[in-house]
Amino acid sequence: MQTTTAVDLGNPDLYTTLDRHDRWREYAAEDAMVWSEPGSSPGGFWSVFSHRACAAVLGPSAPFTSEYGMMIGFDRDHPDNSGGQMMVVSEQDQHRKLRKLVGPLLSRAAARKLSERVRAEVTGVLDRVLDGDVCDVAAAIGPRIPAAVVCEILGVPAEDQDMLIDLTNHAFGGEDELFDGMTPRQAHTEILVYFDELISARRASPGEDLVSTLLSDDELSIDDVLLNCDNVLIGGNETTRHAITGAVHAFATVPGLLAQVRAGDVDVDTVVDEVLRWSSPAMHVLRVTTGEVAINGRDLGPGTPVVAWLPAANRDPAVFDDPDTFRPGRKPNRHIAFGHGMHHCLGSALARIELAVVLREVAERVSRVELTKEPSWLRAVVVQGYRELPVRFTGH
Ligand code: HEM
Repeated sequence: MQTTTAVDLGNPDLYTTLDRHDRWREYAAEDAMVWSEPGSSPGGFWSVFSHRACAAVLGPSAPFTSEYGMMIGFDRDHPDNSGGQMMVVSEQDQHRKLRKLVGPLLSRAAARKLSERVRAEVTGVLDRVLDGDVCDVAAAIGPRIPAAVVCEILGVPAEDQDMLIDLTNHAFGGEDELFDGMTPRQAHTEILVYFDELISARRASPGEDLVSTLLSDDELSIDDVLLNCDNVLIGGNETTRHAITGAVHAFATVPGLLAQVRAGDVDVDTVVDEVLRWSSPAMHVLRVTTGEVAINGRDLGPGTPVVAWLPAANRDPAVFDDPDTFRPGRKPNRHIAFGHGMHHCLGSALARIELAVVLREVAERVSRVELTKEPSWLRAVVVQGYRELPVRFTGH
């Protein structure tokens, strides 16, 4: 089915309540194709929602590119400046080279090595919040763990990590917040200034970290190195924090989940995938057509922006039974929370390990997670994220 509408789906106000799921469910069930007039995006864009259509747009052989940008707001006439340089918005040789260079640092083996660090972070935050006052998971737990992991990958020296974790939390904490007089954008700029210094330090004395690995390739410019450190920083923080918060939200609201994980009655890796499907923190990805293509029966010319809405695909009733229900043992679970195709998330093994450690550690030390107020949601289109998730943790 095809629909045309004047609603601007790039308007962040549409996503601050759970009504967003009603809209997505309807569109996915109809396999709708929706046009958003220019507004949030200068030239307008098409949207797809069903699992099938999203996979078709993102699939390995699809005639689409990320090089003009991968978020609403970019298109062929208004391209992302990082296009062709930063992994997530590059294609062909540059993309292949970057995945090959960065991949080993984010691999399953590397992730396993980092799991001790994740466990230490989770233990630290649980020590602070167990049997205490109400804890806002979105601020106190979700952000801390991924920021610490990304610091390790980048090779940030121990003495700078707390400062960088604070800056990272602020840079990705939501557009409305102010911290130390800085907007999130200013905090992000501070991080890039820090990266610049880190690059100089690693040039003088290389290590095994991401900065040194990128510097070891003579074909990459300093700008390329900086942009790809930023890619891992953004990729590692912006989404994972909300998936971790989503895992605690599931413990608080899914009957029997905490008891099942505590008793070892359910496979934790299977629960991790259900957390990813149910929370779907990456809200959309954009592509631009590179030639003539038919999507959902509509012919699109070259240079047309198309947005795939991942949370809609992940609750598509054609693929998932009872899609709104969190089923701890859901199998198969063909969610596309990490995207699909050539740009499938390079940090997925790491994100899965972070989530598994959080689920196991919380289940081990906590007997009850009580939601004290319904969560509130970020006013955002790039991530489907928690603004606040207040809970009370009860220990053994
Ligand atoms: C790419 C989601 C965690 C690094 C992506 C994409 C999605 C995604 C949807 C594809 C973007 C596109 O197709 O345009 C997620 C989710 C995460 C997560 C939901 C957590 C729950 C991480 C972590 C890291 C990371 C922990 C690294 C520390 C990357 C990188 C890419 C990427 C480098 C670019 C891959 C490429 O272009 O080939 N992620 N991500 N992500 N992610 Fe993640």
